[in-house]
Amino acid sequence: MERRTIGAAALEVGAVGLGCMPMSWAYSGSRQRGAESLRTVHAALDRGATLLDTADMYGPFTNELLVGRALKDRRARAFVSTKVGLLVGEQHLVANGRPSYVRRACDASLRRLQTDVIDLYQLHREDPEVPVEETWGAMAELVTAGKVRALGLCAVGAHFRRRPGARPYDGTIRTLERVQQVFPVSAVQAELSVWSPEALEALLPWCGARGVGFLAAMPLGNGFLTGTLTPGEGFERHDMRARHPRFTAEMMAANQPIVVGLRRVAARHSAARGANVTPAQVALAWVLSCGPHVVPVPGAKRECWVAENAGAAGLRLTEGDLAEIAALPPALGSWD
Ligand SMILES: NC(=O)c1ccc[n+]([C@@H]2O[C@H](COP(=O)([O-])OP(=O)(O)OC[C@H]3O[C@@H](n4cnc5c(N)ncnc54)[C@H](OP(=O)(O)O)[C@@H]3O)[C@@H](O)[C@H]2O)c1
Repeated sequence: MERRTIGAAALEVGAVGLGCMPMSWAYSGSRQRGAESLRTVHAALDRGATLLDTADMYGPFTNELLVGRALKDRRARAFVSTKVGLLVGEQHLVANGRPSYVRRACDASLRRLQTDVIDLYQLHREDPEVPVEETWGAMAELVTAGKVRALGLCAVGAHFRRRPGARPYDGTIRTLERVQQVFPVSAVQAELSVWSPEALEALLPWCGARGVGFLAAMPLGNGFLTGTLTPGEGFERHDMRARHPRFTAEMMAANQPIVVGLRRVAARHSAARGANVTPAQVALAWVLSCGPHVVPVPGAKRECWVAENAGAAGLRLTEGDLAEIAALPPALGSWD
């Protein structure tokens, strides 16, 4: 698989990564199976998808434990990216950016991941009670201590703390400017996909101009862009899509033209190659086309998805494909 370099520390990873979250959190819990997840992680590494993205809050904790088990004998092959600063309550999530907590959480993540060092340690959420410079300073000390190789920051949402008239991710950029004064940011993680392209406006160029890598979260539109979901089929109670405004039967039906467009591009490439190219691969190839510093981390708990998604690294979209995708209707349904 093509390799990509992220951040000033020139960290090398496979162009397509693996989001480990669905193995333990947020998606169809009844289909979470430990043994299959372990095979899925191995399948990713076998195909060169080395960046494994997890977080202490996924599970909570069980996703890191799973990644740790999978990497027991293969740690050197993988690039481990995890997160700190978000805790799971009964019915809500709470940010915690206190330096003492960050230090403890890092040691706990290292234990669960069964490793001496985390390749990328990301601040999951800024704590409104703690100046972000203090949180970031504690994370920087972990780099000095050799427990972490590089630091990253997760964006909350395109419109979080957006001032009137400002561009999407304006609030995230302000935070990035602050933490850069303390210690270099190696990567930013934010949503980026065919149906959520807001990061293209300001956040991605901000990263590109500073040699900061970009981990594209939700690159498959939470599964929608793969064309494998049927409007109205419904979701399990704890599946986050059961409450997501774009996943009502009505909105899924209304957004079908986007899937139809991806299918059309996939069909053209299938005919040219004489091999099956899928809408999921086109969706990931589009993310890859957004910049050499962009690494999509499609979430998957199934081995077959990982094989398919890794194949997107070898798919080059033409100018015509990109123009056709740009002309697709904007997605309907939003949290705002
Ligand atoms: N920083 C943050 O705040 C944040 C927020 C969300 C996500 N993330 C990260 O980003 C990663 C990706 O986001 P995501 O997992 O939410 O969304 P996603 O990658 O857009 O979509 C994941 C969904 O797509 C399905 N899928 C994957 N490959 C497929 C294929 N080839 N064909 C059909 N279906 C396929 C998966 O199914 P199965 O579940 O059946 O495998 C899963 O339901 C996460 O794993 C996590 O690491 C970060």
